[in-house]
Amino acid sequence: MKRGEHITIFDTTLRDGEQSPGFSMNTEEKVRLATQLARLKIDVIEAGFPIASEGDFEAVKEIARSVKGSIIAGLCRVIKKDIDRAWKALKYAERARIHTFVSTSDIHLKYQLKKSREEVLHEAVEAVRYARKYTDDVEFSAMDAVRSDLEYLFRVIEATIDAGATTINIPDTVGYAIPTEFGSMIKKIRENVPNIDKAVISVHCHNDLGLAVANSLTAIENGARQVECTINGIGERAGNASLEEVVMALKTRVDYLHLKTRIKTKEIYKTSKLLSSITGIVVQPNKAIVGENAFAHESGIHQDGVLKERTTYEIMTPESIGLTKNKLVLGKHSGRHAFSKRLEALGFKLSKEKLERAFVRFKRLADMKKEIFDEDLEAIVEDEISQVPETFVLEYLQTTSGSHTIPTATIKLKRGDTITQDAAIGDGPVDATYKAIDRITGIPGTLITYSIRAVTGGKDAIGEVVIRVAFNGDIVTGRGASTDVIEASAKAYLNAVNKVVYKNEVPKVKR
Ligand code: KIV
Ligand code: ZN
Repeated sequence: MKRGEHITIFDTTLRDGEQSPGFSMNTEEKVRLATQLARLKIDVIEAGFPIASEGDFEAVKEIARSVKGSIIAGLCRVIKKDIDRAWKALKYAERARIHTFVSTSDIHLKYQLKKSREEVLHEAVEAVRYARKYTDDVEFSAMDAVRSDLEYLFRVIEATIDAGATTINIPDTVGYAIPTEFGSMIKKIRENVPNIDKAVISVHCHNDLGLAVANSLTAIENGARQVECTINGIGERAGNASLEEVVMALKTRVDYLHLKTRIKTKEIYKTSKLLSSITGIVVQPNKAIVGENAFAHESGIHQDGVLKERTTYEIMTPESIGLTKNKLVLGKHSGRHAFSKRLEALGFKLSKEKLERAFVRFKRLADMKKEIFDEDLEAIVEDEISQVPETFVLEYLQTTSGSHTIPTATIKLKRGDTITQDAAIGDGPVDATYKAIDRITGIPGTLITYSIRAVTGGKDAIGEVVIRVAFNGDIVTGRGASTDVIEASAKAYLNAVNKVVYKNEVPKVKR
């Protein structure tokens, strides 16, 4: 292993991650996340699987058009129409990669593909050759490589490299490998595939046994030079190797591994939060690197040690991942200048109009809440960024609920100059509120997920509600923040309604 070699970080949050339950995102959300991934300095962003759906295609195309500085990859089976479709979306990228895959394990060949080893080998070679007509950056993945016959795998790898593959990915698709076993597999590939020096070895580990990061690191020690991973470790079933864990292990243990990435680690925390805020799914408190407790020292002995000398119990600093917790930043008397300066420091660039609206909300919040933290500002700004034209505006909301009361909501919504009022009962005040909104808008939605979190501590904390709602097949995310949780819930629902109205009113620009 040469000292200081570069490890390519391939992020598949928007493909493997997005395909897992609860993590689906719309195009606008995917572009926002991809933009942040580029800020994090990801080498390769796998933006989606373009043939999978119209939505996936659009998202990959939009990301290819607008996200700069990273290679944009699209997944395809070893099928010409998949590759054509992927290229149609990827061709706008500064640098594009076609990622084609087929299973190589006998178990997949026999029961799923119903094809012989020779047929699969032929298809893989043809696909790589075909993809090379479009770009000289082609990745081939031998799906379920870990459970494949090694001699056959060597042949597939050699043939696909001869056909033009520049990256060979070895997935542990079902999360079955044990670190020493996986490391030795990578070593054997290096020793037995004659042309292996012409390609980068990549690994893609799933976390079914909780070993995805360990397997990825052992693979690196044995010569892999690309790791496929996801933010917060999301992905099929138990997820993929967590990007933040792989990257921070490489950084923290550079003394042992002597390898580097180009990741701007100070953007890690923000990226993790952005994903949670888009999907409404937060990481568990004890999650390594980005969990709420990852840098909290609770035991007296530990606290005592850290106070005397940080390194007694801390192997990396919270600042290295961009964590500046609960900083009291602004108050009631802070002006526009201080407000916009703080937002800039947090990495937000808002238009004049959005900045003004955010400032008005900040002032309103400062009247209700004594202390304003960075997290409060982030909630306000996230709310503004996710705003679409407010077709329906909340004018008035009153709810009643209790152990012996039928939950009821009375709502007034403004649309243009017209104010409409209605009321409904429901299973609880939130349900009643949503039913009353449905009655006024005439656009009934089905709530898929609902999450609420206190943005900061304290009784006067802002509650942020993130929901996913289906409107006649269109799934949208709604977000709302307020010190009143029912109002935050109503705002989140209206945000979702306004998004779906906007989506269906704006004619799609033909490209
Ligand atoms: O897990 C897997 O094998 C995959 C491939 C498509 C790379 O996600
Ligand atoms: Zn996978």
